[in-house]
Amino acid sequence: MKVVYTEKSQVLAARTAQKLGCRLSEVKYTTFPDGEQSIRIMDDDDQMIIIASTVDPESTLQAILLLDACEGKETTLVLPYMGYARQDKKFNEGEPISARAMARALSTGADRVFTINIHDTSILGHFRCPAKNLTIAPEIGEYISTMNLENPLILSPDEGAWEFAKGVSAVGKWDCDHLDKTRLSGSEVTMAPKHLEAKGRDCIIVDDIIATGGSMAKAAGMLLEQGATSVRAAGVHGVFASGGYIKLMQAGLADIASSDTIERASSRITASGVIADAVRK
Ligand code: R5P
Repeated sequence: MKVVYTEKSQVLAARTAQKLGCRLSEVKYTTFPDGEQSIRIMDDDDQMIIIASTVDPESTLQAILLLDACEGKETTLVLPYMGYARQDKKFNEGEPISARAMARALSTGADRVFTINIHDTSILGHFRCPAKNLTIAPEIGEYISTMNLENPLILSPDEGAWEFAKGVSAVGKWDCDHLDKTRLSGSEVTMAPKHLEAKGRDCIIVDDIIATGGSMAKAAGMLLEQGATSVRAAGVHGVFASGGYIKLMQAGLADIASSDTIERASSRITASGVIADAVRK
């Protein structure tokens, strides 16, 4: 078994290969004179694991090319972060279901797919091969444990992410609640007033995606107003679009952590253990 990777998933691929105790293949990435991408897997095997967060068009194309290069092998595609997953329905007539289009394109050549904390598990049904979603809620809980906080409060920005927050809080049997966010547009959210047991406590807001940071910034404002001692953020996928990281810093968050599903300076949580376990099974 060998692990290959898109250029932007190198760190996670290396960590996963180490946990699996298997080799990481060398992949050569170059471009043709016309700017088109050229890839070459230098050493392959009968079983191939592709680690590919489709964070941008270039990475998506690299995933498709890797799948094709692995033709004839038993291939597992791991999509730690799946781009376009949030367009999971036709919001307006004439729009694509982008998550479906991505799932179909990324199924060709894959024997099975793993995603991590995908936006909505209904998307898994669009893959043309078996697809399973994995969660790193326990890993986020372990990360929070290292902070040695006394009686922290774990919160999700909305009810949709509450189950995820419960998975995080189960690690330390911490209190867990949710806020009531409503999305107005891709970049705007409102937070309904809600009294929380936040006064004098360290609060950690957890979510699957930190996109523009709007949800977490609004939540942090409410918690600080209600007298929280500190507010921290921990998300699975740190997209940080439109200056999202700065927005969170300016909102007064004491710590901003994300995982290596998207490789960032804030990636202090790794999804490699969960991926290695799933591949082994
Ligand atoms: C929504 O469904 C997700 O769980 C996140 O809450 C959302 O993507 C966060 O977006 P933003 O950071 O732009 O508020």
